[in-house]
Amino acid sequence: MPGRIPDTGDGLPAVRHAGGRHRTDHRRLSCPEVAERRMTPADLQVKLLDVLNAMIAVGNRGNEAQARRYFYPLSLATFDVDEIMEAVHSMTSFRTTMWEKTLQFERQFASYVDCNDAVMVNSGSSADLLLSFLLRNPTNPLLEEGDEVLVPAVTWPTHIWSPLMAGLKVRLVDVDPATFNIDLDDLEAKIGPRTRALFLVHLMGNPCQMDRIGALVAKHKLVLLEDCCEALGAAWNGRQVGTFGLGGAYSFFFSHHICTMEGGMISCSSAEVAENLRIMRAHGWMRNANRPAPPVADPTLDPRYTFVNWGFNLRPTELQAGFGLHQLRKLPGFNERREQIARRIFDVIDRSGHLSRPRAHPLAQPSWFCIPLLVAADAPFTRDDLVRYLENKGVETRPVVTGNIARQPAAKLFPDLATGALPGADAIHDRGLYIGLSPLFTDQVIDRLLDCLQEFLGAY
Ligand SMILES: Cc1ncc(COP(=O)(O)O)c(C=O)c1O
Repeated sequence: MPGRIPDTGDGLPAVRHAGGRHRTDHRRLSCPEVAERRMTPADLQVKLLDVLNAMIAVGNRGNEAQARRYFYPLSLATFDVDEIMEAVHSMTSFRTTMWEKTLQFERQFASYVDCNDAVMVNSGSSADLLLSFLLRNPTNPLLEEGDEVLVPAVTWPTHIWSPLMAGLKVRLVDVDPATFNIDLDDLEAKIGPRTRALFLVHLMGNPCQMDRIGALVAKHKLVLLEDCCEALGAAWNGRQVGTFGLGGAYSFFFSHHICTMEGGMISCSSAEVAENLRIMRAHGWMRNANRPAPPVADPTLDPRYTFVNWGFNLRPTELQAGFGLHQLRKLPGFNERREQIARRIFDVIDRSGHLSRPRAHPLAQPSWFCIPLLVAADAPFTRDDLVRYLENKGVETRPVVTGNIARQPAAKLFPDLATGALPGADAIHDRGLYIGLSPLFTDQVIDRLLDCLQEFLGAY
C-alpha cells in the first residue's frame, strides 16, 4: 500500500538502530574503560548519544552561508541523533560503501512509493542522468540518438542536461503559471513525428495532470519518465507520482522531503529496469545486479570484473542509506506537518489579490516542497520588491529554480533549446519566487512569517 512503511520481511526490523547488529571485539578496543570492563560497548553508546545530543542541541540546523541570518530559512536539517548514530554504526563496522543498508532502504522506498523496485544513487541529478541513459541503454536502446524528448521549461537544470548528455534532442514545453507544471495544450501541440519521450517534473510537489498526460503518452506511444525530486509523497488520484512511467527520479538533498545529506533514488516500473540501472550505476558490471552473472564464455574473464554494459559510478554510501532508513520512517509525519504549514500560508496568499500560488487539481494530493508564489502581472509591486522586503525581514527567498531555462546562459550552448515563445515560463521567470517549508518550523515562526506577509500586502 502506498505511503506505508513496510516490514521488509528480511528479518531486520524496519529501522535498525545504531549498533543493532554490531559485534564489538573487546580485545581490539583501545578505550581503557571498555578494555578494563568498567564500561560495556552499550554503555559507550549511551555516552556517545549524550555527547551527540548535546552537540546537536547547540548546532545550527539552517543551511545558510551566514548562520542565523534568517528567522525563516529555506529549510532546516531534519536529521537527528538516530541518523548520526546509524552513520557511526556504518563507520565503526567499516561498511561505508554501498551494502545491505542500501538494499534495505531501496526495498522500503519501493514499498512506500508502491513500485516494482527502487535503485538508490548519490543525488537526484544522478537519478535524472541514469534514467536518461536508460533510454539509450546500449543493451536495449529504447530511443536513438537525436530522438526528441519533451521537457518542461521550468525545472532543475540537470533534468534538462541529462537527456542532452544522453544524446537526445530536448524540446522545451511551456509551463502553466496556474500550476507551475507542464502546459497541457503546449505539450499536445509540441508532440511531433520525432517525439519519443516525455520527461515530466512534478514541480514544487504539485502533481501534474496525469489523466490527460497518460492519454497523450498512450496515444503517441511515448516513453514517460518523471522527475519527482520535489514531490516525494505526492499522488495523483491515490497513485504516487513516479509510478506512471518507466521510472521516477527523487532527490534527498538537504531541503527535500527526506534528507540523506546528498542522495537520490529511482523508482522502477519493472525488475528489468532496476537491473539495467544497477548495472549502469556501477561501472557496467554485474556485481550489484540481483541475478547471477551469465556464465562467461571467455575463460580469460573473471566474473568479478566482467563488464556487460557501459556505466558510471553513481553509487550512494551506506551512510546515506542509513540516513534514508530513519528519514523514511519519519516521512509521513514530515509531510503532514508540511501540509499543515502550507495550508496556513496559502490561506493568506489566497486572500490577497496580488499574489497567487500553484493550484492543485482536485485529483492531486500535493506534497509541498516549498511555498511557491507568483506576483500578479498587474500588482502594484514587483517580484523584486517582495523579495527585497522578505530578505530584509529575515525570510530567505529563491527564484523558481531555473525560471525559463531558455533564458539561462548555459542554454545558449544548445541552440535546439531555443524553440520559440514560452510565455508561461517567462511569467514564472519574471514574477515567481519561493520561500522555504520545513516540517520543523514552529507555529511561532509561521505566525511571524504571516505577520510579515500581511504587513507587506497591507501596504497596497
Ligand atoms: C526538480 C529537481 N530535479 C532534480 C534535482 C537534482 O537533485 P540533486 O540536488 O539531489 O542533484 C532537483 C534538486 O533540487 C530538483 O529540484
